[in-house]
Amino acid sequence: MLNAQTILSLAVTLAACHQASAASWTAPRATNTNNITFAHGGPGLDGFIYDSSAKIAPYNYCNMPHINPSTYHVPDLKEYELEYVEVTHRHHKRTPYASNMFPVEDQQWQCQTNSDTKFRVSMDGAHDNFLARTYWETKQSPLNPLHRANYHGSCQFPQITKGGFDDSFAHGRDLFAVYGSKLGFLPRMYSPEQIAFHVTSNVITSQVAGALTRAMFPFSTDIPLLVQPSGIDSLQPSYSCPAADSARNNILQQEGWKKHLELSSVLAQRLDAISGVDPKDGGWHQNWDHYFDSFSSRMCHQVPLPCDAKDPKNCVTKSDVEEVLRWGQWEYSYLHRDGGKDTLEYSRLKMGVFLTELVGHLQKPDVKYRHNFGHDGSMSLIMSALQIEEMVWPGMGAEVVVELWKKRDGKKAVRVMWGGKVMTSSSLGKLDMVPLETFVKYITDLTGEGASDVVKMCGY
Ligand SMILES: *[C@@H]1O[C@H](CO)[C@@H](O)[C@H](O)[C@H]1NC(C)=O
Repeated sequence: MLNAQTILSLAVTLAACHQASAASWTAPRATNTNNITFAHGGPGLDGFIYDSSAKIAPYNYCNMPHINPSTYHVPDLKEYELEYVEVTHRHHKRTPYASNMFPVEDQQWQCQTNSDTKFRVSMDGAHDNFLARTYWETKQSPLNPLHRANYHGSCQFPQITKGGFDDSFAHGRDLFAVYGSKLGFLPRMYSPEQIAFHVTSNVITSQVAGALTRAMFPFSTDIPLLVQPSGIDSLQPSYSCPAADSARNNILQQEGWKKHLELSSVLAQRLDAISGVDPKDGGWHQNWDHYFDSFSSRMCHQVPLPCDAKDPKNCVTKSDVEEVLRWGQWEYSYLHRDGGKDTLEYSRLKMGVFLTELVGHLQKPDVKYRHNFGHDGSMSLIMSALQIEEMVWPGMGAEVVVELWKKRDGKKAVRVMWGGKVMTSSSLGKLDMVPLETFVKYITDLTGEGASDVVKMCGY
């Protein structure tokens, strides 16, 4: 028999079941980054650094903060024992993507001038003196009528630069200094039973891995870089998901997003006139990604700001660039956090497979240490899914580390580090020794058991 109360409790249960597949979105903290007035007018860059790798903290787009021995907080080792670590970070600094370069570039990028920048580390785990040292050399054919002014110089676009290799090496050294030397958790030699490195099919992640693994395990050779088949790779991520695309489209239809494009259109007109980019080119005008990458890549390598190819006195100014950089930050925050529940819908579907794998590793570690070399897309989706309190554009080398600790009473706890410090989530609070079950439940509510929501919603 159904009385009113039973029906009510049934309805509540049903509502809860429905919600379980979409854990609720909690707004991020209001900062300058997600303040549209600040993005538009500034002034300045709120202390964010874009012009070299030298100073890391608190935010350096060229070389983001990561785990290192001077800031790493060691928990009470009488109480906690480290069981498993999973590092995920964006590759280090590089040349711009070809699609983000001006139709005619006034600068050349040189990658052959220093032997360290050769494309050698691409496929063989090298930076290694003992293997046959083959490498790529970018060279145009004078007989190829299709060459573009863009491609003058001797780099691929993208390619990790000399500075990017140096930063990758330093990153590996710092990680080993903490998990090897300080905690005695990592062995001195690489072994596949204990350690796994994962890359994407984009070779820049392999280049970074070549330098970073060399720094971590200088006495090891032949280190495999695991890569999933393209098309289903969860790290990039590269599997298709129309439902995720439509969540993203919803964000792009919001008033806030439209307003920012309106406010920044004056700047777009001015930059198009200098760059020669077609004002009707959607790729350059649906967001600030292209100009952002074009300028930040130059600044990270002390390459002067671009000028009009036809009028060398008409150059991009400091204030132009600062506005582009602020819009870039604002957009990342909007697309991944401020845009509301669609941001979480987008990240849970796009990154749900990766997160499901992560949860599997935490529940039953198959190695001690796993290390994923990814992209800004990988990072921002993880940050979005964990509902980071202050979203930023994850710059070069930006890092999330998930640690699994076992307590003396046998219970397990998860600590998540963003840029070497405990991450704060708007939804879960400080991710500092969160009970494993709580963390697993949060992720599983997002993805469904075994990523079943992703499989279902993405149409697999
Ligand atoms: C946004 O930034 C502007 C300009 O700096 C400031 O006046 C305003 O108070 C900020 N708004 C919020 C919500 O912080």
